[in-house]
Amino acid sequence: MTADLLIVGSGFFGLTIADRCARELGLKVQVIDRRDHIGGNAYTEIDPETGIEVHRYGAHLFHTSNQRVWEYVNRFTDFTSYQHRVYTTYRGEVFSMPINLGTINQFQRAAYTPDQARAWVAEQAAQLTGEPANLEEKAISLIGRPLYEAFIRGYTAKQWQTDPRELGADIISRLPVRYTYDNRYFSDTYEGLPVDGYTAWIERMADHPNITVTLGADFFDESQPFNQAATVGRLPIVYTGPVDRYFASAHGDLSWRTLDFETEVLPVADFQGTPVMNYADTDIPYTRIHEFRHFHPERDYRTDKTVIMREFSRAAGAGDEPYYPINTPEDRRRLLAYRELAKNEKDVLFGGRLGTYQYLDMHMAIGSALSMFDNKLAPHFTDGAALD
Ligand code: FDA
Repeated sequence: MTADLLIVGSGFFGLTIADRCARELGLKVQVIDRRDHIGGNAYTEIDPETGIEVHRYGAHLFHTSNQRVWEYVNRFTDFTSYQHRVYTTYRGEVFSMPINLGTINQFQRAAYTPDQARAWVAEQAAQLTGEPANLEEKAISLIGRPLYEAFIRGYTAKQWQTDPRELGADIISRLPVRYTYDNRYFSDTYEGLPVDGYTAWIERMADHPNITVTLGADFFDESQPFNQAATVGRLPIVYTGPVDRYFASAHGDLSWRTLDFETEVLPVADFQGTPVMNYADTDIPYTRIHEFRHFHPERDYRTDKTVIMREFSRAAGAGDEPYYPINTPEDRRRLLAYRELAKNEKDVLFGGRLGTYQYLDMHMAIGSALSMFDNKLAPHFTDGAALD
């Protein structure tokens, strides 16, 4: 075996480690991924019929306030000046999200000042007294019943396929309400989309003579050379697949939500006039529609066709893509048990959103990979420090 390090998973976490180890330390890095493409969930592809860049695993918007991460990602790509904004359709009317002064005034047919809007929300929220027993009560205690029923109830029920009265109060800790007309979705220092697309960015990270990426190679498939049985204990490994799968679900499966996507090419220049439209009503089965042309208004896309993607949400079953950790108390108990097992796994580091059972935005996955490189891998390969 010629590699110095095996990385399981070619998402942002795995490729950040691969880049640093190859470019900074001169190591030979073998990356494997079970999918037939690089990049994990950030992978995008050009729709052959329209030439429009489609995000295969759901819309990916890059944003960060982390200076180091921003400087790091700029080595591989320039960013456009895109700023994300989201709208929601509720009972045949379109409102801006997250809930802001414009949303409240439109909803109330009013011209409240910030203080008047704050007082109205506080008055509604005060109608729920006592400790909230479920997600619905928690939401009402935060923003009051009218806004909850319009903008949170239906959307949440569709996201979880469960009545919010049956969901735990701890699923939400806060619901942002802005008492200004600012409807930017993110408030980070830096935001934008990669000028040449995500896949070009990701391919540049892996483009180094010391990095070999093998696709269609599952770590648990013993017919491929870099499988678990053949590699653990023989070379250092950074594993970014699901942590429960690594231990053959010895403590049970961790639960996830998954998404189903329905992509369609429509013979119109512009379907919805915006990148993302949420649907708050429960009689519409999808949670939102993405229209990809709007992520890149600077591009010269053809104007006779557009690509849309409807998003449906549900609990993941066996064989589904795990997207968002559900994080029940049982999941948390299982995760602690897996963390104990992971600690004893010599020369194997667990990282990324699947390896740590954590929702991570891209900048967080990259930032935590940079920390793992600084704190574990560089000391190990330069001074012989233990990996665990
Ligand atoms: P990621 O899942 O990308 O990569 C893990 C890789 O490991 C996968 O390629 C997988 O195939 C591979 N793998 C797993 N098991 C394996 C095995 N047994 N053998 C070999 N390979 C295996 N973030 C953000 O900043 N802005 C956004 O707008 C969004 N939007 C968004 C939408 C949706 C629907 C999701 C699910 C996620 C986002 N994200 C996001 C988060 C973003 O996708 C996330 O930060 C990165 O994917 C994290 O990168 P990782 O490398 O950790 O995982």
